[in-house]
Amino acid sequence: MNCILRGVRVIDPLARRDAAGQDVWLSEGRIIAIYKHMGEGTLPVIDLTPPPGGTPVILCPGFIDIHTHLREPGDEGAETIHSGSQAAAAGGFTQIVAMANTVPPIDSPDRVKEATFRAVAASVQVLTGCALTKGLKGEELVDMEACAAAGAAAFSDDGRNGFSPRLLSEAIGRAVSLGRPVMIHPEDEEVLAQVNRVQGPVQRCSLRPVEAETRAIDYALRALAHAGKGHVHLQHVSSAAGVEMIRRAKEGGANVTAEATPHHLGMWLPFATEPQPAGLLKVNPPLRTDRDREALIQGLRDGVIDTVATDHAPHRVEEKALPYDRAAPGMIGLELALAVCITLGGMSGDWIPTLVDRLTIGPYRVLGKASGIREPRLRIGEAATCVLFDPEAEWTVEPAHLRSGSQNTPLLGARLHGRVLMTLVDGALVHHDRQRLPWPASAAGTETARG
Ligand code: DOR
Repeated sequence: MNCILRGVRVIDPLARRDAAGQDVWLSEGRIIAIYKHMGEGTLPVIDLTPPPGGTPVILCPGFIDIHTHLREPGDEGAETIHSGSQAAAAGGFTQIVAMANTVPPIDSPDRVKEATFRAVAASVQVLTGCALTKGLKGEELVDMEACAAAGAAAFSDDGRNGFSPRLLSEAIGRAVSLGRPVMIHPEDEEVLAQVNRVQGPVQRCSLRPVEAETRAIDYALRALAHAGKGHVHLQHVSSAAGVEMIRRAKEGGANVTAEATPHHLGMWLPFATEPQPAGLLKVNPPLRTDRDREALIQGLRDGVIDTVATDHAPHRVEEKALPYDRAAPGMIGLELALAVCITLGGMSGDWIPTLVDRLTIGPYRVLGKASGIREPRLRIGEAATCVLFDPEAEWTVEPAHLRSGSQNTPLLGARLHGRVLMTLVDGALVHHDRQRLPWPASAAGTETARG
């Protein structure tokens, strides 16, 4: 495309830039210039200037999701790298980290290489998450050094928490020289087994008390302290008690980071519209009380929670239609994240710049440069990796419009605010809402495709 986007608010957190009323000159996927009032000459102008008192459209670096499930290999009926990365693009995400709990799991250098290779042609940059322990069993660490050398961006047994604090401590120590985070699914499996009275796998068990989370966080913080160095990242924190523990640990100087999902920020039980089947509400950790949700929002606002991460967890229809106790846990999130955070998750209005921060430099800092993540910046002259979104635009979540291979969300039919208009990755247009952002034929230029 070759045009001027007029009247845009430009937010670039790393550059400490937040300026409304900007004109952005785009040419063949590059941002040529950003000025207040650009003389257009012969260039077509797409006027996005809001009415007086209205809310402007925002241009910012592409979002980063450090917690995505793509199901390839093993469950391509639920999601593939192709469909998942298209969903990411539609949600404004330009870099995502795929979790390792595929079939088979990504737990060896060869599997890391294969997973990375499979994702080369994806619409967005897909980084490979590697398991922390072989087979996600919590018994033996993967060859962390070789897996990092093969391209692993981070280590996580997400979905499982079967390791001992001792093993975790060793992993944290080894990850230091690799510059990769150790990411923890904080739900203690012993607590879950006890309350659900099971001896086998606990992933689908439906009783998941806050104590499972606080005990796992406690163990992770102890393991970090025992390692005496390193960094631990806590995934999908869901409770007020969890937020409080992280707040205190950070105040005490611990190198711990944390994420919250859009669904934990935006929903609590009982959720207003009981969906059918009920399994659509099932997620690990579970949705909790409104008080927990408010603590998460507060934590996200004040930085105790470093990043929003989707935990995009696609599942086939039949997996969700099972009786609640047996249904698969998880909901899709990539295409809904922005709107859920704005509409239901306390991040509208004056909180939008904070939300942009938590979707860009928050996750960038959690991962660290060595992971291979690219700096989220709007750079003049370079092929752009950015997102244009309208924080106010209203839309309905309709199954037919979702790009993900699955549609398991309790929000089908919901009216949300916040819509991604355009996503560019390395200058390629990977998502364009033509209805809300029509541009004249003269502005079209060569639209490079990625993937
Ligand atoms: O609800 C969840 N689903 N939580 C997780 O941690 C894993 C995920 C999945 O893989 O389905």
